[in-house]
Amino acid sequence: MTNSATAVAHANIALAKYWGKRDEALALPATSSLSLTLDAFHATTTVTLDPAADADTATLDGRPMSDGELARVSRFLDLVRSLAGSSARAAVDSVSTVPTGAGLASSASGFAALAGAAAAVYGLDLDARGLSRLARRGSGSASRSVFGGLVVWHAGTDDATSYAEPVPGGEPGGPLDPAMAVVVLDAGRKAVSSREAMRRTVETSPFFPAWAEATERDVALMLDAVRAGDLAALGELAESNALRMHATMLGARPPVRYWTAHTVAVLDQVQALRADGLPCWATIDAGPNVKVLCAAPDLPALADALSDGGTRRVVTARPGPGLRVDAGGAS
Ligand code: PMV
Repeated sequence: MTNSATAVAHANIALAKYWGKRDEALALPATSSLSLTLDAFHATTTVTLDPAADADTATLDGRPMSDGELARVSRFLDLVRSLAGSSARAAVDSVSTVPTGAGLASSASGFAALAGAAAAVYGLDLDARGLSRLARRGSGSASRSVFGGLVVWHAGTDDATSYAEPVPGGEPGGPLDPAMAVVVLDAGRKAVSSREAMRRTVETSPFFPAWAEATERDVALMLDAVRAGDLAALGELAESNALRMHATMLGARPPVRYWTAHTVAVLDQVQALRADGLPCWATIDAGPNVKVLCAAPDLPALADALSDGGTRRVVTARPGPGLRVDAGGAS
């Protein structure tokens, strides 16, 4: 009998953002979103059943997870156990190359890998769409990390209709040939979690309804741009969508602001590079770091410029693969 499974999932960065839930319990988003899975960052998670244990245990990068992190993992495992009809506790061991909680999509790769390994070890028979729906319950953006390349997460109206799927056209060397430079300004943990910040935005920002409407339109326009092989159209929409997401949270009370002066400096630089003839577009998540989209052939020049003479850490990324599960661990 298999009592251990390991899964690897890569981080993704949204070009049309998920920001705000319509249903907290089911993690149904207010809008659809579109992302690029990256090869540069991934989580590797092993889940081992321990029927004799009376509680789950979990480590991250070899250290026990905090009480809060363990509680979140354990709640997710409760969901898997309820679907599988099992009461067995588990040991979760995760190793991540993504800085945690810094707006660098650590929860996306983390929960996609946990969903893959837990589904395998508890014997849930899920296809990729089922895994995407399951990963969504751990962290919304994790629904997209089940797939490689460009991915759309359909908002849907209930648990069955809210899932991600791949969008053809983002393959390396394909018509868009996208790449990303990730400018790591601060890899520390953010002050306000994306969960809390989203809740506050939905409840108090007068801009939120307009944001949701505009984002649904942006996703449709981005899918058109992908079909047309038009990276510039995709990039312009992505930069605008990210700025609008931050505008909606600046409108919350109390306001949520993830930007620092360094964030603004990178935005200025991206604008200047564009004016100098290097096509590139910025996006920012729930943290100060800036990710810059470009065509793969422009990536070395872009990364070199953004590193600012070696004073900034820049990670270069190409499209990454979807979730891989190895259920080979036999007891
Ligand atoms: O999946 P969560 O709950 O960590 O939310 C992710 C939110 C953003 O990264 C800011 C946007 C996105 O679509 O990934």
